[in-house]
Amino acid sequence: MAETLNILSEEKEGILYLTVNRESKLNALNFATLEEIRNIFNEVVDNKEIKGVIITGSGEKAFIAGADISEIAELNELNARKFAENGQEVFGLIENCHKPVIAVVNGFALGGGCELAMACHIRVAVANAKFGQPEVNLGIIPGYGGTQRLTYLIGRGKANELMMTGDMIGAEEAKKLGLVNHVLATKDESMAKAEEILKKIMTKAPLAIGMIVDCVNSVYISEENGYQTEANSFARCVKSGDYKEGTSAFLEKRKPIFKGE
Ligand code: COA
Repeated sequence: MAETLNILSEEKEGILYLTVNRESKLNALNFATLEEIRNIFNEVVDNKEIKGVIITGSGEKAFIAGADISEIAELNELNARKFAENGQEVFGLIENCHKPVIAVVNGFALGGGCELAMACHIRVAVANAKFGQPEVNLGIIPGYGGTQRLTYLIGRGKANELMMTGDMIGAEEAKKLGLVNHVLATKDESMAKAEEILKKIMTKAPLAIGMIVDCVNSVYISEENGYQTEANSFARCVKSGDYKEGTSAFLEKRKPIFKGE
């Protein structure tokens, strides 16, 4: 992995563990951290050792308390659009990654933190997690995809309410709304749950997992016909060795061994 100053990364048994490590600033995302995330995900795509990713925040208090407000305070009309597009691009790399990415949300996931968690494929929250898009308190709106991803995850009415009030919600409510998949009492339990999910996904055919990512994401691309994407992706799977292995293994009453080919 590329050298990083703000993110701790460790690869173990095919899982890349990423920890945003600016605990004294509640892991706020500054430009440098965002660039490190970009570089890491560009590397994840080609790294055959990495089969899945877990992202969390350093310490007990915060996952990520938002984009770094000291940098937001310096924006002007000219660079603000670029600021948003840059963040959207980086989070797009996470969302479109063909390897499963799980956020373990340990504490505040506000603004860009909530947006980063939403860009991940699956979210596991610690019971103390707090989600929110409080940008309106700063006179701005979410800019890293939050207006879009929050709306399709929890629906228009609730998304409007959260973004317009800037209110935070707890982990259990986030689960009820469909913002998180699982809530566990402690960070250790949440990490274990994320590992359990990833390890299960890692036994499946990697090409099929990547195709699921593309097809699910195509739902939200207005110029794409998702059914067509699905049919094309289905055909791509059938061209793979893993398809032969999966179907043969079933007929031979044995467990398949997928090779990602
Ligand atoms: N950007 C930059 N710094 C941040 C930050 C952010 N998004 N969120 C927290 N910090 C910093 C604080 O400035 C403080 O730094 P300091 O010790 O050098 O003064 C440190 O992290 C601890 O935060 P603090 O506010 O003292 O903790 P708290 O427990 O009183 O409050 C929050 C926690 C999350 C409620 C509060 O920090 C907050 O509202 N943060 C901003 C959230 C936000 O608006 N995010 C969206 C940004 S677009």
